[in-house]
Amino acid sequence: MHANSSPVSSNQQQLHPRLAEIVNRHLRAAHRAEIVAHNLSAYETLRESLAARPRPLVLDSFCGTGHSTAALAERHPGHLVVGIDKSAQRLAKHPYTDRDNYLLLRADCEDIWQLLVRDGLRAEFHYILYPNPWPKARHLQRRVHGHARFPLLLQLGGALELRSNWQIYIEEFGVAMHLAGQRGRVSRLAAGETDLSLFERKYRRSGHDLWVYTANIGLKLGNQPANNMP
Ligand SMILES: C[S@@+](CC[C@H](N)C(=O)[O-])C[C@H]1O[C@@H](n2cnc3c(N)ncnc32)[C@H](O)[C@@H]1O
Repeated sequence: MHANSSPVSSNQQQLHPRLAEIVNRHLRAAHRAEIVAHNLSAYETLRESLAARPRPLVLDSFCGTGHSTAALAERHPGHLVVGIDKSAQRLAKHPYTDRDNYLLLRADCEDIWQLLVRDGLRAEFHYILYPNPWPKARHLQRRVHGHARFPLLLQLGGALELRSNWQIYIEEFGVAMHLAGQRGRVSRLAAGETDLSLFERKYRRSGHDLWVYTANIGLKLGNQPANNMP
């Protein structure tokens, strides 16, 4: 991976003017999508793993190669850490380790989130590291906080951490969470920290400022499937 990546360039120099309107619309609508077959079967893998050994969950959404998933499995040895990415090509570059407390799913995050919420399962920790920024203003609804299924993030709960090399993305995410009634913190990632993911390494080596949003959405210990929820 090249280390000379350019900072995010966008035709949007401040928060998107329609951010509040779009987030509020999604918060009111509680959108649910039809789940595609390959995501259902990826989700089954997760359920089987939890059934074999019930453990609290850590999600690494948009995990790319899953380098971060393996690192998080070291950090959370008593949890099941689940890396989710839709790209088979990225996942194929995962350097397998001998840890048995993580798995990688090729799936769309939004579908896995929806299934977890449906089944009453919660994350104790949720990492979203360097999601695609979709920097063009007209692509707001492709960003995590502009997406119709953004409200699922709140229902999944846990200690949420979202990182980006685009300050506006993190600030928008913070505002969207605020509109959803969730307080959090926007800060700059400390310089001395070990890189958690390949994109983080690339951006740091390229001299980008790295930003992080954190919030504690409320921990629910254990993963007791509830009755199916809507
Ligand atoms: C910029 S990369 C970051 C990867 C990794 N988190 C890192 O920091 O190295 C964004 C990743 O999001 C994945 N992705 C984009 N949309 C997705 C979705 N809806 N569901 C799952 N993965 C998605 C892409 O395949 C890509 O690997």
